[in-house]
Amino acid sequence: MEQILNDNDFLVSQTDSKGKILFANEDFCKIAGYTLEELIGKPHSIVRHANMPHAAFKDLWDTVKNGKIWTGYVKNSTKNGGFYWVYATVYPNMACGQNEHGYMSCRRKASSGEIKAAEALYKTMR
Ligand SMILES: Cc1cc2nc3c(=O)[nH]c(=O)nc-3n(C[C@H](O)[C@H](O)[C@H](O)COP(=O)(O)O)c2cc1C
Repeated sequence: MEQILNDNDFLVSQTDSKGKILFANEDFCKIAGYTLEELIGKPHSIVRHANMPHAAFKDLWDTVKNGKIWTGYVKNSTKNGGFYWVYATVYPNMACGQNEHGYMSCRRKASSGEIKAAEALYKTMR
């Protein structure tokens, strides 16, 4: 079942340089259906949805590893087997409390028009 975000939901997560979750905010936990404890230390692919093309994540990683900001639409799965769409902005930063660089993602609700367009695009990708 689709989990529809509120207009003012703002989902934040922080990873280390390999994509392991170091932090997730309350909105992220609420929408994804996990407690913070369940998420910390897990690879970010814990919320990966099978419909997402690999190429989208390759583009994400190529971009942020180059020190650039990646933006895009992401379909994620929830703990109970549902899903939700977000518009994500991912960027490199210094991971808080870690003496190494990491990455942060900030996500807002995607509109139904944006979701339709992303679904159509992702169907053409692998
Ligand atoms: C800061 C950050 C946030 C990410 N957020 C997500 C996310 O919300 N959903 C997702 O499926 N992958 C996310 N990824 C990408 C995952 O690290 C991973 O590449 C992706 O889930 C594909 O999994 P796989 O490489 O095991 O196939 C994020 C990566 C970073 C660096």
